[in-house]
Amino acid sequence: MASCLLLLIATAAAVVFLCAVASDQDDKTPDCSSADNYTADSQYKKNLDQLLAALPAAAGGNGWFYQGSAGAGADKVFGLIMCYADYNATACLDCLSRAPASITTVCPGSRNVRAMYDACVLRYSATPIPATADLSVLYHVVMTDHGVSVTTEGVRAAWGPLMSKLTDGVASSLLRLANSSTPYPSWQEMDGLAQCSRDLSASECSSCIKSYTNRLGELFPGNNTGGAIKGYSCYLRYQVGALEITLPPTTPAPPSPQPPSGKYLMLHACTFLS
Ligand SMILES: *[C@@H]1O[C@H](CO)[C@@H](O)[C@H](O)[C@H]1NC(C)=O
Ligand SMILES: *[C@@H]1O[C@H](CO)[C@@H](O)[C@H](O)[C@H]1NC(C)=O
Ligand SMILES: *[C@@H]1O[C@H](CO)[C@@H](O)[C@H](O)[C@H]1NC(C)=O
Ligand SMILES: *[C@@H]1O[C@H](CO)[C@@H](O)[C@H](O)[C@H]1NC(C)=O
Repeated sequence: MASCLLLLIATAAAVVFLCAVASDQDDKTPDCSSADNYTADSQYKKNLDQLLAALPAAAGGNGWFYQGSAGAGADKVFGLIMCYADYNATACLDCLSRAPASITTVCPGSRNVRAMYDACVLRYSATPIPATADLSVLYHVVMTDHGVSVTTEGVRAAWGPLMSKLTDGVASSLLRLANSSTPYPSWQEMDGLAQCSRDLSASECSSCIKSYTNRLGELFPGNNTGGAIKGYSCYLRYQVGALEITLPPTTPAPPSPQPPSGKYLMLHACTFLS
């Protein structure tokens, strides 16, 4: 069970995320299996390389989600990649192209990997990825915008209607994605996003999001302006004020690879760095 507390300190112009937990640093990096590693000349590696190379374009042309496999028999590799809707198209395509390309550097030899980044999630495995809510790892980010004053009572009162709309919406959405808003006194609105890995059924998605909404009171003091809970199967975020959502394209769009930059900090899972 991993847990990482990240604090967001927002000023008018700049956003700085600090990682407040030093003792469990490993938990913030991708979850790389360490037993039964594949070798450099194995068929598993060939299949993995083929799958990882195909994922960016496959997801880019499929509404920013793709689940597939490569190879056959004992060396078959299963994989999945998906963008989160609170990052824009540029950030999504960037994550789709970089995460698969670099995961073998981060987890060399690992037969099974789960990795979450700011803008996307990537998994691969020697066995089919279970279409069930994976609640084993959870990160949460407490966001505080010092320019916005909120009350614990107000925030908690807004969670009720917002979470209920998100929970209903995410389960009925084919994209397994719902964004919504609810009035927040003196600051117009509280916005929220709920998103599940698109391979999950409505009921698995619903139980994943519900397990997160049930923990809001425990994870967030309430006097903070926003929060996010992210795991390998689902994602929940709320914020007093507007939250920008980018829905995946409905018509297939060719992926536009981004030039590499030295700033791909997302690969360390103390990721919410920006
Ligand atoms: C997309 O988001 C990134 C930050 O994640 C930002 O730097 C960039 O300007 C945004 N691009 C567009 C086109 O909005
Ligand atoms: C398997 O690979 C991982 C890196 O992905 C490494 O940390 C681990 O030590 C390796 N395990 C063995 C037994 O070599
Ligand atoms: C959800 O996000 C989309 C895309 O930004 C936006 O057009 C829509 O109004 C949002 N829906 C709600 C209920 O906030
Ligand atoms: C929120 O409340 C906690 C105590 O519950 C307190 O330690 C913290 O300083 C408060 N934060 C803000 C931004 O007021």
